[in-house]
Amino acid sequence: MQKKSLSDISIQGKRVLMRVDFNVPLDSSKKITDDKRIVESLPSIRKVVESGGRLILMSHLGRPKGKVNAEYSLAPVASRLSELLDCPVTMAKDCVGTEVMQQVLALQDGEVLLLENLRFHPEEEANDADFSRELASLGEVYVNDAFGTAHRAHASTEGITHYVQTAVAGFLIERELLYLGKALQEPERPFVAILGGSKISGKIDVLENLFKKVDTVLIGGAMVFTFFKAMGYETGNSLVEESKIELALKILEEAKAKGIKLLLPSDVIVAAEISATAAFHAEMVTAIPEGMIGLDIGPLTAEAYRNEILSARTVLWNGPMGVFEIDNFAAGTMAVAKAMAEATAKGATTIIGGGDSAAAVAKAGLAQEMTHISTGGGASLEFLEGKELPGIAALND
Ligand code: 3PG
Repeated sequence: MQKKSLSDISIQGKRVLMRVDFNVPLDSSKKITDDKRIVESLPSIRKVVESGGRLILMSHLGRPKGKVNAEYSLAPVASRLSELLDCPVTMAKDCVGTEVMQQVLALQDGEVLLLENLRFHPEEEANDADFSRELASLGEVYVNDAFGTAHRAHASTEGITHYVQTAVAGFLIERELLYLGKALQEPERPFVAILGGSKISGKIDVLENLFKKVDTVLIGGAMVFTFFKAMGYETGNSLVEESKIELALKILEEAKAKGIKLLLPSDVIVAAEISATAAFHAEMVTAIPEGMIGLDIGPLTAEAYRNEILSARTVLWNGPMGVFEIDNFAAGTMAVAKAMAEATAKGATTIIGGGDSAAAVAKAGLAQEMTHISTGGGASLEFLEGKELPGIAALND
């Protein structure tokens, strides 16, 4: 996708309306627990501020269901952004209306205003035309840098583009498209994809799309048990999607027909229940005892997957290998994160497809060791499925 960029437009003295994804996790005292999405937006923000633009930022936070709810206020984000930028960030009480328009018109070159949560208005998610027009009237140029929300056709991402002349991509969207797009279009080979997660149904479209490009696929997470059931193994009390057993067989056949090396675990960690205190041990996948649940890949598999990762020039990872939130079932996921860090050090391009895998890499303390960690959860998944992201498609070519 060749989209016009923030670096292609003149900014000085202009009201720049920028959609960002500041949907960050907050704890009960409203402290931001992971500011990655704010940090990743800084290059675009700084570009506008340093070029003398008058910056109006807009975002959603959580799912307040179209109602004003102080729990979902973006105020904590304004404070954090102000710290990171080392300049004042004014917080607006709303995202539309007379008062907001007055604040916008009072902005001076290089000043920053953050609008209140767009989703306090039901019109945002409904992609309402009047609301889109009202938002559009706040700026002279529109920049979308909200990769994490690009899969939503909402008023601030898609609708608005019908009411502005200039609608360009910010630097974060450009960076996401560069890495995720290159992996899908012209990966350096060997290209290894690692797919995890609990259900085949959640990853089938990604698998189908990656099958067009990938040399090797490593599978982990609870979805492996649907494959094992399909292969006739006993899976104990592990999660199996009965309705996807046929599909699992079809995937195995397709991989074979296309000459793709598809690896499933040879051993798994099992326990009687999903709890931090449950006793656990490794078993071969052909010998999962009755009543036991598979909760992570085992050490033999982790080593085999590591070797595959180290032989790759491009590695793309989406979905954890086990229940990594519980330390006893995190070793497989952590081993994959470490192997990816080693691969980066050897010169491979390593890409984390956002969501749970990004959280796992952060937990491993290896975020700095990856080539690219996507800020998108659902958005990166849809991108990897080969779907068009409406928030990006709508920007100027
Ligand atoms: C995300 O966190 O994936 C994005 O901010 C989109 O949020 P949503 O799933 O509530 O639309």
